[in-house]
Amino acid sequence: MALQRLPSLPTEELASLEDAELLARVKALPVPRHVAVIMDGNGRWAVQRGLNRVAGHREGVKAARAVVRAAHEVGIRFLTLYAFSSENWSRPSFEVSTLMSLLERSIDQELPELQAKNVRLKIIGRAQGVPRSVREGIARAEAATAGNTGLTLCMAFNYGGRDELVDACRALACQVQAGEIRPEEIDEARVEQALYTQGVPDPDLLIRTSGEMRVSNFLLWQIAYTELVVTPTLWPDFGPRDLHLAIAEYQRRERRFGGVS
Ligand code: FPP
Repeated sequence: MALQRLPSLPTEELASLEDAELLARVKALPVPRHVAVIMDGNGRWAVQRGLNRVAGHREGVKAARAVVRAAHEVGIRFLTLYAFSSENWSRPSFEVSTLMSLLERSIDQELPELQAKNVRLKIIGRAQGVPRSVREGIARAEAATAGNTGLTLCMAFNYGGRDELVDACRALACQVQAGEIRPEEIDEARVEQALYTQGVPDPDLLIRTSGEMRVSNFLLWQIAYTELVVTPTLWPDFGPRDLHLAIAEYQRRERRFGGVS
């Protein structure tokens, strides 16, 4: 793997740049091909304002829309957003149903812009448990955008990294049982083929908002060598400038993939 040392400014100097200058710097260097985001802090954002938690999720959708546009503009090829985890079912039922309907409505509302911008939508996660109308909306949008060749927007919905690995194991076990492959033929490439993210390269950069230092069962296989950027900003306050700052931070990193510089 080629090693790369990217010329860059220290983090504090990046943060003091004007928006336009920051963006120009980001665009002057290679941008990450795949950015994954754990959009955390919606609940706290709402509670800090004396609002119901779901008000934070509604604001979170606006932030997600702005970040998808910014990712498209800066030339990111794959953007994965963690919208609903397999653990989120344990939240109060009103919050769960709001998150379901927010996804359903957002997909409907955003479809024309996704098409206009040549964005392909891909949902990763288990369909089982997701209300039928949401599943149908997802299937329609995925089919409608399947031929688009610009940004791939992966929405992790009813997603769990361990579920994904369990499902991959089951799929591979079935292939062995059917005599299609021998156990010793199972290698990293075959595991990758069996993941929900099949055909999507591993994330180069994982951003987590709201300051929590956890990966929360997100893309466990795929983030083996991903660069992590944690920002204290709560998700509804996260905007294009924050994305640019995270990319600029990534561009300062030396990726060694287990090697030496
Ligand atoms: C974490 O904040 C966020 C979520 C569980 C859901 C993220 C969902 C959105 C941004 C809206 C859905 C987006 C689309 C496009 C459908 P939290 O509730 O855990 O916040 P907290 O840690 O402050 O409680």
